[in-house]
Formats: sequence, C-alpha cells, structure tokens
Amino acid sequence: MKTAIKTNITQVLVEEHQLILRMLALLEGNVLRAERADFRDWDFFAAGIDFIRNFADQFHHAKEEDVLFTALVRNGMPEKRSPIEAMHIEHEQGRAHVRAMETALADIQAGETGQISTLARHARGYTELLRQHIEKEDTILYPLAERVLPESARPDIIRGYAQSEAKAPQVEHKYRSLVENFEHRYTDAA
Ligand SMILES: [Fe+2]
Ligand SMILES: [Fe+2]
Repeated sequence: MKTAIKTNITQVLVEEHQLILRMLALLEGNVLRAERADFRDWDFFAAGIDFIRNFADQFHHAKEEDVLFTALVRNGMPEKRSPIEAMHIEHEQGRAHVRAMETALADIQAGETGQISTLARHARGYTELLRQHIEKEDTILYPLAERVLPESARPDIIRGYAQSEAKAPQVEHKYRSLVENFEHRYTDAA
C-alpha cells in the first residue's frame, strides 16, 4: 500500500520564523526604551539590523524566494497576482524599512538624537509587517505548499535548503546565540 506521508518542506522555515519573532520582540521593547530615553545601546540596533539582513533576509527569505516559491511556481502557482507575488512585495517592503533604520541609526550615532523617532517608526513598521507576513506564511502559504507540492518535487527543495545553508555555514548558530544573549541581557531588565 502506498504511504501518504510526504517529506516536510516547511517546518524548517517555521522554526526560523520563531527565531525572527524573538528578535522582533527585542526590537520592539528596546525601541520603546530608546524613545523614553532610558536606552542608549546603539550597538543593539546595529546587531538587530545585521540579524534582519543576514538571517531574516539573506538566509530565510532567500530559502523562500530561491527554493520554496520557485518550486511552487514550477508546480503551477502563478508568479504574478498570487500569494507568491504578495510575499515578494512584503520582503521588499521589509528591505526598505531596514535601509531606513540603518540610515537613521548612522545619524543617531553621529549625534542626531532627533532621528530616534525615525528609527522607531521604521523598526515598528518592520515589526508589524514581518509579524503579519509570518502569520500568513505559517497559516496559509506553507500549509498550501504542503498540500499542493507532489512528493517528487520535495527532494529538490530539501537539497535547495541544504545548498543555502552550505553557502552560509554557522549562520543559524551565530544568530540563535545573538538572540539568546540579547534576551538574557534585556528581558530581565524589562
Ligand atoms: Fe517570507
Ligand atoms: Fe518566512
């Protein structure tokens, strides 16, 4: 009898979302403290931007865009006017917030404390965007992918993830430690 169990292709992405959400919570808390003027650890924001760029975007979004979404398109999901296009647009919107955060942070570090509100606005914009983006992927797009992708397409997806991970060895470990260290430092001080 043929087994109906398929290779899981989204759990690894769901787990990456969990780490991203932990960084978003830290960002949210420290933005609030920075606005109240009782937080001046600008290196935290530099590390947060680095996390978003290199873990959330380069590592995680690249796996989605280059591997999972590509497989969905290859298996019949339209590229335009589709959930795939919507997710791509949100990835781009996230990148715009991060660029704005980086500019504001450079100004703040150069002494322009008036830019704290700009940093806060884009950090909040990013946090809100990514939370609802992750929610849509976890509850709609990934379950859809698990339903529609045939087993024959799955080994290539797993291989694609492994190739992305091989391109960035230690990234997962590095950023997990970063989040844990910040949680230790800031969650107790909340
Ligand atoms: Fe995404
Ligand atoms: Fe995602």
